[in-house]
Amino acid sequence: MVGVRRPEEYRSHQWYGSGISSGLRSFSHRARTRQLGYLPEEHLGKPVVAILNTWSDINPCHQHLRDRAQAVKRGVWQAGGFPLEFPVATLSETFQKPTPMLYRNMLAMETEELLRSYPVDGAVLLGGCDKSTPALLMGAASVDLPTVFVPAGPMLPGHWRGETLGSGTDMWKYWDDRRAGLIGDCELAELESGLARSPGHCMTMGTASTLTAAAEALGVTVPGASSIPAVDSGHDRMAAASGIRIVDLVRRDVRLSRLLTAEAFEDAVTTVLGLGGSTNAVIHLIAMAGRAGVRLTLDDFDRIARKVPVLANVRPGGGPYLMEDFHFAGGLPGFLSRITDLLHLDRPTVAHPTLREQLAGALVHNDDVIRTRTNPVAAEGGVAVLRGNLCPDGAVVKHIAAEPHLLRHTGPAVVFDDYKAMQRTINDPALGITADHVLVLRNAGPKGGPGMPEYGMLPIPDHLLKQGVRDMVRISDARMSGTSYGACVLHIAPESYVGGPLALVRSGDLITLDVAARTLRLEVSDEELAERRAAWTPPPERYERGYGALYAEQITQADTGCDFAFLARPGTVPDPYAG
Ligand code: FES
Ligand code: MG
Repeated sequence: MVGVRRPEEYRSHQWYGSGISSGLRSFSHRARTRQLGYLPEEHLGKPVVAILNTWSDINPCHQHLRDRAQAVKRGVWQAGGFPLEFPVATLSETFQKPTPMLYRNMLAMETEELLRSYPVDGAVLLGGCDKSTPALLMGAASVDLPTVFVPAGPMLPGHWRGETLGSGTDMWKYWDDRRAGLIGDCELAELESGLARSPGHCMTMGTASTLTAAAEALGVTVPGASSIPAVDSGHDRMAAASGIRIVDLVRRDVRLSRLLTAEAFEDAVTTVLGLGGSTNAVIHLIAMAGRAGVRLTLDDFDRIARKVPVLANVRPGGGPYLMEDFHFAGGLPGFLSRITDLLHLDRPTVAHPTLREQLAGALVHNDDVIRTRTNPVAAEGGVAVLRGNLCPDGAVVKHIAAEPHLLRHTGPAVVFDDYKAMQRTINDPALGITADHVLVLRNAGPKGGPGMPEYGMLPIPDHLLKQGVRDMVRISDARMSGTSYGACVLHIAPESYVGGPLALVRSGDLITLDVAARTLRLEVSDEELAERRAAWTPPPERYERGYGALYAEQITQADTGCDFAFLARPGTVPDPYAG
């Protein structure tokens, strides 16, 4: 156990000091804190806790976080700390274009630089909508202060005409029903008001729920935090508890690097796979691990997937339940209690010296929502990693969310050069698309998208939908929403925009997907591919200036986490006051 530090050892002491010996700058910082309206006894000698808040009027998943920051402050004050709230960028999955993935690394940079440049001893991070979780934790890991993550929590289940609706998942489903003429505009208007009925992130096991669960598995949230519904009063109590915890962590100098170990990331991968979670977690966990100095690879996911059963019977990977059901069935502690043999139990968390102690007494209250080991949703984890001449650096497929007959399939390619071209032409009967075709989308990767948009669940053509076709093999260098489903091969690396083999596919080429063998092959000879490569010319750069230009210059491929090269590389950054 780490001992309690003296206040003079806090990082913030370098800013505030005390008395004449601390110099003019400290005098100025104290004077400006008086200007903020604080008495000396309210902050001097106390742990300064930065609350990084991703609240915004435009982000429905985070609209309650303005209040929640107050509960965190309450906890910090109760424990004898000094909280300061910092508004940071909001990444709204719904509204931000072309995709908030373009801005994940920007929020990570903002997080890192704010924490480093201000008088901060520890951080509480508030977020949950998809990329917010990895962004905040990537930045915090690069600074390595004591840190607690407060997950935004899932919104309440959707409702429509007696049915329970899952955000994302049912939006796609009913939109397809509308296109197929099964429902009309009246029904669609009702659904508009029923799909998302409270603050909070998507309440399926989409990217948000997957990543906040990963954060809890990493040990950076208070126990049970990740599944508490956003508007449950328990969410306020969790936020206050997080405020209390961070003060203790600062006093004992328990930094993020003590928690974010290789074992912790293995357990996070195990968790994500056992939850049947989002494919996006593959990219984000690799990036987060990279910031923590841990090497995590696609092969780690495939290796772990083969031994982890899917136990969470939650949409879209399992079903039919939603996150609120998962919460009341025991939440993540209950889930983890079922896989303790697959976890590293001797590692610390923000709340306990070991995960073993944290999970002691954790129970499952509903064996249908959180399945037993003898009755899993699927015998293997939900994500498979594919290799082959179409994806030399890997690709992923969430096979448990696909129609089983497509998991071994050969079909002719129908190639779309970009998303807009696909939207314009996919319903054109002249293309002659059948259910056996393989839909191919390119120029949708990290650089080509740009930002690797969630285009990977390509729409089934209207005429096939009307025939009852609901799944086809689709392949791309894009990502897919965590709430999506289908036989969609994603994250093909290297991407087509930088000349990956996906750039060389032509309509009519045969493509073979074999998930059991973990392969994706373009059935074209090496000689022919070499000829096509020689004739290939790189597309023009999309950005002449601005953040997009920096992004294009620095973004790494999906298999290495889509971090910026200059952020991901090892090395130290001087603390502004040190030395
Ligand atoms: Fe925010 Fe789904 S839109 S989590
Ligand atoms: Mg999403």
